[in-house]
Amino acid sequence: MYVHKLKIGSVELDNNILLAPMAGITDLPFRIICKKYSNPGLICTEMVSSKALYYNDEKTSKLLNTKGEKRPISFQIFGSDPEIMGEVAKKISKNADIIDINMGCPAPKVVKNGDGSKLLLNPNLVEKIVRNVVENTNKPVTVKIRKGWNNDNINAIEIAKIAENAGAMAITIHGRTREEYYSRTSRFRYYKKYKSKCKNTCNRKWRYKNSKRC
Ligand SMILES: Cc1cc2nc3c(=O)[nH]c(=O)nc-3n(C[C@H](O)[C@H](O)[C@H](O)COP(=O)(O)O)c2cc1C
Repeated sequence: MYVHKLKIGSVELDNNILLAPMAGITDLPFRIICKKYSNPGLICTEMVSSKALYYNDEKTSKLLNTKGEKRPISFQIFGSDPEIMGEVAKKISKNADIIDINMGCPAPKVVKNGDGSKLLLNPNLVEKIVRNVVENTNKPVTVKIRKGWNNDNINAIEIAKIAENAGAMAITIHGRTREEYYSRTSRFRYYKKYKSKCKNTCNRKWRYKNSKRC
């Protein structure tokens, strides 16, 4: 892997190694340990419900506790109500260095509410959510998506372009569809295609050594 500095909006990262958000795993102690022993350029919280933050749920707010943590850190939120997402962006902006919007979670309890990867089926709503979050924060906004909902709906490039135009500074693509969940190997060849189509949010120094894994 080619290690180099990276800039996301105004945030400068020491390197391009990013700790992936993982629900139930990337909590405060885990992030502190990762930072101490492998020094990723960016660490990310697990995904946090925008509705729960909006209604001041105490347990949920604790997921965004960063006491004793080194910066920069990205706060990942999920939800499908553009107003609530905007209000929550406003609320968490002070402590976050980057706000990441989850549009990739495949869990039934999330998609049944229209959140996470279900948003890939609703490009208009994607646009509204990203725009509202961007308008309500002075921090860079990033978006995490999947390759698509299923093999009949591969639309990550379309969604990435919508997010770019709405103000997203970077996009992460999980190279599986929602239907694939976490099965098989992530599809690296797809990233190459994305790189050629989405110039604004793509880190041009990325190399696709793994593209043969498809
Ligand atoms: C246990 C677990 C929890 C995860 N939670 C989140 C999450 O909260 N937000 C998110 O965007 N992705 C989440 N992911 C997806 C990962 O961040 C990552 O994109 C995915 O595992 C692809 O990497 P892989 O190809 O190495 O599996 C989770 C993955 C795992 C395995």
